[in-house]
Amino acid sequence: MLICAVPAWASVLRMIGPEDVGGAWAEVIKRFHERHPDIQVKYISGPWSTDERQNMYIRSFLSGDPVELVYMDIIWTAKFAEGGWLVPLDQWFTPEMQREFLPGAVEAGRYKGHSYRVPVRGDVGMLYYRKDLIPEPPRTWKEFERICERHSHPPEQYCIVFQGMQYEGLVCDFLEHLWGAGGEVFDQEGNVVLDSPQALEALRFMRKLIHQEWAPRAVLSFQEQHSLSAFSQGKALFMRNWPYAWTILNKEDSPLRGKVGIVPFIHKEGYGSAGTLGGWGLGIAQGVKDPEKVWKFIAFATSSEAQKILHFKRGAVPSRKALFQDPEILKVSPHYRDLYKIVMRARPRPAHPDYPRISDTLQKHVSAVLAGVESPEEALKIMARSIEGTVRGEKEGFLARLGVDYDLRRTLRNTCVFTSLSVPLEFILGLLIALLVNAQFRGRSLVRLAVLIPWALPTAVMAMSWQWMFNNPFGVINDLLVRIGLLAGPLDWLSSPNGAMSAAVFADVWKTTPFVVIILLAGLQSIPQELTESISIDGAGALREFLHLTFPLLLPFVRVALIFRVIHAAGIFDLIWVLTKGGPADSTRTLGIYIYDVAFRYDEVGYAIFLTVLFLLALIGVSFLIVRLTSLGYERVR
Ligand code: GLC
Repeated sequence: MLICAVPAWASVLRMIGPEDVGGAWAEVIKRFHERHPDIQVKYISGPWSTDERQNMYIRSFLSGDPVELVYMDIIWTAKFAEGGWLVPLDQWFTPEMQREFLPGAVEAGRYKGHSYRVPVRGDVGMLYYRKDLIPEPPRTWKEFERICERHSHPPEQYCIVFQGMQYEGLVCDFLEHLWGAGGEVFDQEGNVVLDSPQALEALRFMRKLIHQEWAPRAVLSFQEQHSLSAFSQGKALFMRNWPYAWTILNKEDSPLRGKVGIVPFIHKEGYGSAGTLGGWGLGIAQGVKDPEKVWKFIAFATSSEAQKILHFKRGAVPSRKALFQDPEILKVSPHYRDLYKIVMRARPRPAHPDYPRISDTLQKHVSAVLAGVESPEEALKIMARSIEGTVRGEKEGFLARLGVDYDLRRTLRNTCVFTSLSVPLEFILGLLIALLVNAQFRGRSLVRLAVLIPWALPTAVMAMSWQWMFNNPFGVINDLLVRIGLLAGPLDWLSSPNGAMSAAVFADVWKTTPFVVIILLAGLQSIPQELTESISIDGAGALREFLHLTFPLLLPFVRVALIFRVIHAAGIFDLIWVLTKGGPADSTRTLGIYIYDVAFRYDEVGYAIFLTVLFLLALIGVSFLIVRLTSLGYERVR
């Protein structure tokens, strides 16, 4: 975080951005302060990922203390404007002024006829290649494959690195493959057309990159900076990234200086290349006291002077058209004349107020395909249905939306599977242990104490321990199960859907069975001994005694244990959040996690409350059912 020495009388404006590489923003802010000492700008270094910074802004808007300067990704406009979180800039950002900027970037800052964002920098996805090793850069997938087959030598040198982590960068990469194969997410009328043969080819091609080892599996955890780091260490022949990387790769101390070329991203033969339009701009948060002062900074930060600083210090692509012809810029970045044409051809991502949710769907399922846990066919069907649900849900009320909320259905199914596996297991085990520790034997108190330990441990801590223990190949669970012959080979516990669900159930059973034990033990101790003794005198066998006397008398305690366990298991959050974050490919995302996402990631608090109320009603219903069933048995024995 940059802390500025702020005069007591100055207004302070905050902005959140990524780490200030090269001190570019510090320089822009310094120059601004020289001219406007009464306005202080404080740059807050946030995480690299655009999604996480977006969440930081949303939280600040919801908290009533909005961060004044909104440094926005090109994809945030619709959501933020629809939320009423931005001040329209029409009075300052006039049509004459707009004409000086890249048209795509200006357009992306408009929503329902108003401008909310002035572009600071443009961006477009590109293919980087090692021109010292590859004589002719590829244009099509086929040409690319031929080069990979011939020139890559994994694991020393892979063919390509890209952004494969489950985040916004993966959406950009996916769209470039999709568009490059002639596919689309929406058609002209706004219908979802994602489940198409073109999209299938795009996903298959992306999966092939990993299957063939042309890209390292590690790309599944790569963002831009990881790809750049691997590429600059010579670990790949190609890299998909944004233009800023060129400046870094050509720094004086860079081993790849002069050895890297950039071209438009590859496409399927017979189609054209399409880079994703990216970019960042500034807006004013609704509710700031003096928007005029915020505008002064925006005007300066988007001026040619500031854009040149951002370009020279951190490789930012200007958003002002004239700068692509600027002699100083062309001197250090001679390729900018060509880049201009590529930026002008770049394609925007769908502009929709529900974009975060649409993007979330794409992120999860494309990532699932790359991880090999979903087939491209399956992923496309789910993505298309889920996006359709999102788009239609927006036009319909909450109730109608339930019918089309595909994510909800999936999470409900996961919640039912989790609850119906963990609760019976905990109950049976809990009952057996309670019977055992209820018997008279030496050291009984110690055993009772030991049984309680898992329950006393903090869930998050034990979930992290289980995460390590289930790790493949380093975890102890696989090792143990293989050694005792229960498994032929190690299992992918946390990176396969069934494995992850089993691991979550296992950890929950271990953690919560002691809770059932305490309640049932209390019940067993409340049964008068004379009763059980009298039946023993009658000569009843132990099993008969248990079934006809002990268990029915225990029913009020069974009822309490079951109600608590069903409510807790159905609403599970912490254990799964830490263990798997709901993954892989949403296979362990339960209702609790989904409602959290709806409220805080998609910012649909109303819908989240609606779901919570329904959930509460369902739990009340199930509790009544448990009360009813257990009462019947109890009445009979009394
Ligand atoms: C770059 C782009 C931005 C995009 C992001 C994805 O920062 O400018 O538009 O969303 O990368 O990681």
